[in-house]
Amino acid sequence: MNIVAINGSPRKNGNTALCLEAAGREIQAAGVEFRVFQPGADVRPCMACYHCLNTGSLRCIRNDDGVNDIIAACIGADGILLASPVYHGGIAGGMKCVLDRLMLAAGCGVNQLHHKVGGALCTLRRSGGMETYQQLLGTMDAMEMVLVTSDYWGAVHGADRGEALRDEEGMAVAARLGRNMAWMVKVLHETSLPAPPAAQRPMMNFIR
Ligand SMILES: Cc1cc2nc3c(=O)[nH]c(=O)nc-3n(C[C@H](O)[C@H](O)[C@H](O)COP(=O)(O)O)c2cc1C
Repeated sequence: MNIVAINGSPRKNGNTALCLEAAGREIQAAGVEFRVFQPGADVRPCMACYHCLNTGSLRCIRNDDGVNDIIAACIGADGILLASPVYHGGIAGGMKCVLDRLMLAAGCGVNQLHHKVGGALCTLRRSGGMETYQQLLGTMDAMEMVLVTSDYWGAVHGADRGEALRDEEGMAVAARLGRNMAWMVKVLHETSLPAPPAAQRPMMNFIR
């Protein structure tokens, strides 16, 4: 059993990393493996070439910025934890690049993310936490993932590196999210109930 996290911050050892450490400690304490990917600032956007969908390769044609490693890890994971700083009221640009490519390559077509456990966290100085948190959840929501929450919204405050540690409540929310995600991964692993199968739905482009 394993949970993969994506840290959408370009900044090493920043507040988002600290939140993931708090969640990760709980995940590992529950006996679930935890791995964080932080693609950084050089990650590239989706080119809308649709090569991933047209070929069913489950990979992006762009192979030079580590996103294919993230896609493969997410496909192999039991849970995915998305964490991003708030940038101008929404997710950071690098995170958007990763999510566009991950969701198109792995989530559209035959959905490889189906029924994986999902959780979200964001970090921010002051405003835009709810929008960003909802944006992260909404991405996974559309992939038929099993969304797990904490006991409050996943927005942790802090501007300079390390400040998030002073948001004790936020760090507790992050830790509890990790605990709940690990628990849900184990619940799904243990159940003998058959899961509803993934199925392709009809696609309507609003064209007559
Ligand atoms: C380009 C940019 C835009 C930002 N926009 C916001 C914002 O809209 N709202 C906010 O509260 N904080 C904003 N921040 C602050 C970051 O969200 C905050 O410093 C966060 O903790 C950074 O996470 P990190 O340390 O993991 O990189 C912004 C920071 C940058 C660099």
